[in-house]
Amino acid sequence: MADTLTIRPMEAADLPGVLETLRAALGETPLLKRTPDLWGWKHQLNPFGNSIVLVAAESDGRIAGVRALMRWRLATPTGGELSCVRAVDTAVHPDYQRRGLFRSMNESALEVARNDGVDLVFNTPNSQSRPGYLKQGWRDVGAIGVMVRPTWRLLNPRRELDELPAPSELLPEAKAAADLSEDDRVPVGLRTVRSEGYRAWRFGSHPTAEYVSVGSGDSTAVLRVNRRSGRDELVVSELIGDQGSKAIRRAAKLARAGYFVAWFSRRSPERAAAMRAGLVPIPRVTALNLVARPLTTLDLDVFDLDNWDIALSDLELL
Ligand SMILES: CC(C)(COP(=O)(O)OP(=O)(O)OC[C@H]1O[C@@H](n2cnc3c(N)ncnc32)[C@H](O)[C@@H]1OP(=O)(O)O)[C@@H](O)C(=O)NCCC(=O)NCCS
Repeated sequence: MADTLTIRPMEAADLPGVLETLRAALGETPLLKRTPDLWGWKHQLNPFGNSIVLVAAESDGRIAGVRALMRWRLATPTGGELSCVRAVDTAVHPDYQRRGLFRSMNESALEVARNDGVDLVFNTPNSQSRPGYLKQGWRDVGAIGVMVRPTWRLLNPRRELDELPAPSELLPEAKAAADLSEDDRVPVGLRTVRSEGYRAWRFGSHPTAEYVSVGSGDSTAVLRVNRRSGRDELVVSELIGDQGSKAIRRAAKLARAGYFVAWFSRRSPERAAAMRAGLVPIPRVTALNLVARPLTTLDLDVFDLDNWDIALSDLELL
């Protein structure tokens, strides 16, 4: 590590430099802006608690790297709960890369997490950071694929826009994703603790992604709009209730998007519901790679993807 740098907890005054470092290392697109609001949503408003955030800084305050661990809680199928962190927002400014900063920041952040009683770290690194994580004790859990249901609108011409269409344009009768207070079902694997506070934060207060819901009976599909290769898509982020397939079918009737996409764990009832509603897993397509690193001894094999019970909303932070 460069000997002029100090690794220390992030302070409020570091925010502009932190966002600049993220932009310099990871870039920014019209659809993904690294704003103070998005930072605050992830790291200060998260109902599981404030993130552990370390920076590598020069003595004049210049930020060379940032390492953020979001607090998270996973319920286990046997009725327990794991205190977790998600390794997100990792960046080393291009001027400082390959000098061991990522490694040093990870070591320091894991030390903080361990002292806080954190059981497990998990994340979905990109191809640039995954090799580094694997060298530092993380292991692969598995590939998160994608399930797709095309609609006839896939035949519409592609359009390249800087902004996403509003959900009301693609799903005219959908409601704002508020009041999602239903109790969650029993987990069949490691599953985000879906408290009311969690759903309100996750789907009702995101600064850039607008979530909507479509209901059928007492089941609800929670969706957001995305665009891929010039096509509008509706992402089924979450399914609530035991009639999820009806909620998706109702959304499909209303939808003006080219296709629906989703992903649910293999043994989950939501996956079965999504398949009944015509969402098909696409072989050999990987959307995300899940990796993990336990910090305590766990009585469940976290490296087996079948021991997870998650939806896209548990992994994406859009
Ligand atoms: C990925 C990133 C954080 C690594 O930071 P860094 O400070 O350059 O990494 P380090 O020098 O600490 O390297 C740590 C280990 O990972 C390895 N590593 C780092 N980058 C690597 C790469 N691109 N390919 C293979 N191995 C890599 C190093 O060899 C090192 O292993 P070693 O200690 O056994 O030599 C940095 O390149 C970056 O910010 N990239 C762009 C942003 C990004 O992709 N962030 C991840 C978002 S998920």
